[in-house]
Amino acid sequence: GVRLTGREALALLPYARRDALAFYAELLARHGDTVSMPVAPRTKFHVLSRPEHVAHVLVGNQANYLKARTYRPLTEVVGNGLLTSEGEHWARQRRLVQPMFSRRHVVSFGGDMASAATRAVDTWADDARIEAATTMSALALDVVGRALFGADLTGDAAGVAPTMDLLMDRMIRVTSNPLFWITPNYHEWRTPNRRKADAAKARLDAIVDRMIADRKRRGSGDGDGDGDLLDMLLAARDAESGTAMSEQQVRDELMTFMVAGHETTANTLVWTFSLLSTHPEARRRLESEVDSVLAGRVPDADDADKLEWTNAVVSEALRLYPPAWTLEREAIADDEVDGVRIRAGSMVATPPWLVHRHPEHWTNPEGFDPERFLPEAARGRHKFAYLPFGGGRRQCVGSGFAMLEAVLILAVITQRYRLDLAPGVRPRPDPMITLRPRGKVPMTVRAR
Ligand code: HEM
Repeated sequence: GVRLTGREALALLPYARRDALAFYAELLARHGDTVSMPVAPRTKFHVLSRPEHVAHVLVGNQANYLKARTYRPLTEVVGNGLLTSEGEHWARQRRLVQPMFSRRHVVSFGGDMASAATRAVDTWADDARIEAATTMSALALDVVGRALFGADLTGDAAGVAPTMDLLMDRMIRVTSNPLFWITPNYHEWRTPNRRKADAAKARLDAIVDRMIADRKRRGSGDGDGDGDLLDMLLAARDAESGTAMSEQQVRDELMTFMVAGHETTANTLVWTFSLLSTHPEARRRLESEVDSVLAGRVPDADDADKLEWTNAVVSEALRLYPPAWTLEREAIADDEVDGVRIRAGSMVATPPWLVHRHPEHWTNPEGFDPERFLPEAARGRHKFAYLPFGGGRRQCVGSGFAMLEAVLILAVITQRYRLDLAPGVRPRPDPMITLRPRGKVPMTVRAR
């Protein structure tokens, strides 16, 4: 590991902000597995890239690490939901929410996932131009709307996308302001930026409020909490106290699912189609698997399990472009990793973006090669060499949902269309809160 001085770190800051991905990659290529730099007085930022070290932070010594302060602005949007809460409150919510994402429930959303894709594809025609980021975002919002509320949110897509853009932009602005690092509640200051973000959040709140009001009017499902996620949240009872969630808690969890569950999946799909467009061999193999396994049927969750190559394609896209490109924690007490002292209060990043490219764990790390994720090939790999869904107790509760969704949508689209990037377009990743493509992603759809 290497420790940079304040002066060195400061000199790198403009570069780091302009292109965080290249910055991280270069630091590690030059300085080894662990790089430490000061971000504020007495606060260091440690970047880890080796699976063993990542496993220590996320699992081995996980009780010593909380979500980092960089997640704080996110609480403005998702409140005290699962993604941002800590301690006993988080543990209780996790116990309640985890069963809602069991295989049995996730499978029950397979129909919604496939039909959302079918509806989208039905609006396309041979040789049509689409903008992939907007298209996939609307599609993922449709799925999440149906799974969460059993409702059609397609009419809201045009409003949700710019709202998400605004909120992400705010999070980046806040955390890259030096004041944030020396003022504990800087994110609460009523800056013009904050007011804009509040207005944006109000638009998302309005959707959630509308859904809850609608459910109250109609009465929730059949009361056994077996319907959509809103039904399950309303029916959930704490095992010890037998109490239900407060209405505010239900709102926060709904908002969490909406924010955590739609943007990430949408990005996964954009990267997947973009990679397939430049890897015709992998795409031909995908088409032949989809044609032979599905034989023209609309796929369900059982079919998704049989689509080995399709799954591998999605997994490999998640390796190269992990939507949650970095994970950040803060140490409660002193710790040591890779011979580096991690003081209490320091920040530790374990970016999947870097771990997924570690040269000792991946051959040809920059290459797109779904073969790596065929069952035989994956054997013997370090458990933490691949962590698109994080790891340890805070790992993604929606990973099964997300994989099924991406595989079903990819399969349904592939049955009918082939997507090609417009000539000369090569999307570059933009490390916002999620790893999005920079700018627009024009693609042409061609009927197969
Ligand atoms: C947490 C990735 C889809 C809900 C996480 C974390 C990652 C992640 C890396 C851990 C963050 C950390 O430890 O700092 C992804 C990716 C997705 C995806 C890459 C899509 C490809 C979803 C979906 C849902 C969801 C579809 C729900 C509908 C959550 C929640 C948490 C979480 C609630 C917080 C869990 C906790 O802290 O207990 N996700 N996610 N995610 N994700 Fe996902």
